[in-house]
Amino acid sequence: MKNHESNKNIIWHQQNITKEKREYLLAQKPCILWFTGLSGSGKSTIANAVEKELYKRNCKTYLLDGDNVRHGLNKDLGFTEIDRIENIRRIGEVSKLFVDSGLIVLTAFISPFKSDRQIARSLVGYDEFIEVFVDTPLSVCEKRDPKGLYKKARDGAIKNFTGIDSPYESPVNPQVHLKTANSSIENCVEIILNHLIKFGYIKGNENDYAI
Ligand code: ADX
Repeated sequence: MKNHESNKNIIWHQQNITKEKREYLLAQKPCILWFTGLSGSGKSTIANAVEKELYKRNCKTYLLDGDNVRHGLNKDLGFTEIDRIENIRRIGEVSKLFVDSGLIVLTAFISPFKSDRQIARSLVGYDEFIEVFVDTPLSVCEKRDPKGLYKKARDGAIKNFTGIDSPYESPVNPQVHLKTANSSIENCVEIILNHLIKFGYIKGNENDYAI
């Protein structure tokens, strides 16, 4: 995305209430839990379950989900490479704003391209971006096919379907790697919560899992 010509006349305005102040008020360390994986891998399900646990712990969160955001903010975008890049660019920018507001943001988008995830990461501090790879083999996603989309893609009724005729680039070094084929949803949630506690994003409590 190119900068608009008139942008050179726009000057950043310093605000009184900073991210640090909001962070203190909310008593949590804002971050983005960036879920990436194939369609049907379990991103939305796990992100939802994590958000529920965080809510119980009085954490302030917001979940951005691909299918939902594509009904509003990104309803002008399809699934060509250029549209997916723009989809993730916008989500990166929205997530950055939400992190600035002090929230723990959860994003559930296929986000198939490494370079786009890298751009999203670069918008916030290094430790504010937690890449969560929901690693479910294509064969399993296709078998689940919760929305019947893989079948349509195989029949040629949907073009550019990730894993079928559009690539998915797996993360190389994700902060959290969930192998869902041999891990329950509860287990995945526990792994993520442990990560958040261990690295000081949220406080643990006496009922917490052993870390
Ligand atoms: S992304 O690739 O641009 O990150 P995003 O997560 O927003 O994708 O949307 C993916 C969801 O859109 C899928 O879970 C699926 O329900 C639906 N979908 C519709 N068409 C496609 C397609 N061609 N490829 C992948 N997902 C699609």
